[in-house]
Amino acid sequence: MVAKRRCVQSRTVRAKITIVGAGNVGATLAQRLAERDYADVVLVDIVEGLPQGKALDMLESGPIAGFDSAITGSNDYDATEGSDIAVITSGVPRKPGMSRDDLVMTNAKIVAGVAREVTKRSPRCILIVVANPVDGMAQLSLAISGFPRQRVLGMAGVLDTARFRTFIAREVGASVHDVQAHVLGGHGDTMVPLTRLSTVAGIPVAELVPADRLDTIVQRARDGGAEIVNLLKTGSAFYAPSAAVAQMVDAILLDTRQVLPCTVLLDGEYGVRGLFTGVPCRLGAAGLIDVVDVTLTREERDALHRSAEAVRQVVAVMDSRRAEIDPQLRPMLPEADRSAQA
Ligand code: NAI
Ligand code: 2OP
Repeated sequence: MVAKRRCVQSRTVRAKITIVGAGNVGATLAQRLAERDYADVVLVDIVEGLPQGKALDMLESGPIAGFDSAITGSNDYDATEGSDIAVITSGVPRKPGMSRDDLVMTNAKIVAGVAREVTKRSPRCILIVVANPVDGMAQLSLAISGFPRQRVLGMAGVLDTARFRTFIAREVGASVHDVQAHVLGGHGDTMVPLTRLSTVAGIPVAELVPADRLDTIVQRARDGGAEIVNLLKTGSAFYAPSAAVAQMVDAILLDTRQVLPCTVLLDGEYGVRGLFTGVPCRLGAAGLIDVVDVTLTREERDALHRSAEAVRQVVAVMDSRRAEIDPQLRPMLPEADRSAQA
């Protein structure tokens, strides 16, 4: 399947992945990564016994599923020391009727504390942030860690794109392998599915699906998270989200240079600076290699900017209450944005 070992800091050893949050996304991700058999996994949670119990249960699936990855659970961050990748899934999921942004202050306090603990012990790791609202939480994790932008990635685009690809494939009766799609922007109602650049076996999707059906599919992809929250009643999606994170981990650990949509700190790309938002990113061993520039129409670019503006509002809320989040937290918005709010 995939290479089982990689070279870390000139030693050939198993990679080490920390997952914080042993809930639905974290635990499912741990199982997926263990089954890839290329890394040892440490699962951390605030609830005593939870990460230990789940880790032991997963470990005992090794002889059946056929992996030798070590999986350990802990409530203590010392167990995470020297991780190559740390995934932050700790946070509250939304309830029916809530938007992802309603979680901002609750999850900001959790994510700030976790990012500090993890990066203290693994100063060279790559952070993958999952907790919502994810674009804002990734921006916060970057600020807390002081890491370069190459090593702080938010997961949303792979999930949003997978939903869009699923619906297109079901609509036209194609294999999901043949469906390519782009979704840009923040992970929220303003996300930007790019139908113009979406194809089935190379054929533009607009040639295969009538415009009104395509609009319905776009809206369903946008509402994909809420659709599942409403069905589950408690908790949110985790099978597709954990698969999405695992694909990002594959690209990093196996240095594939695959282009995946991730939320990263933009530095002028797509006309956005100083904010996390979802764009196509080439990923490899160092994390973000580069942001891939796709030529957008005026309308698509405006939609992306509206989406970035929604992220800016979330970050502005955290900036205005940053003493509650972490007394050492510096303002995250560029100077111009902060003076514009004053
Ligand atoms: P969950 O409730 O099943 O698990 C969260 C876990 O975090 C719990 O086990 C909890 O004890 C733990 N936790 C809470 N505070 C902690 C702390 N301070 N330190 C360590 N662990 C702590 O939730 P689930 O479904 O796993 O979702 C986790 C987060 O990921 C939510 O914020 C959810 O909205 C988000 N999410 C984001 C997605 C994305 O596309 N970016 C997709 C799916 C979920
Ligand atoms: C989702 O889109 C909860 O953000 C998560 O399913």
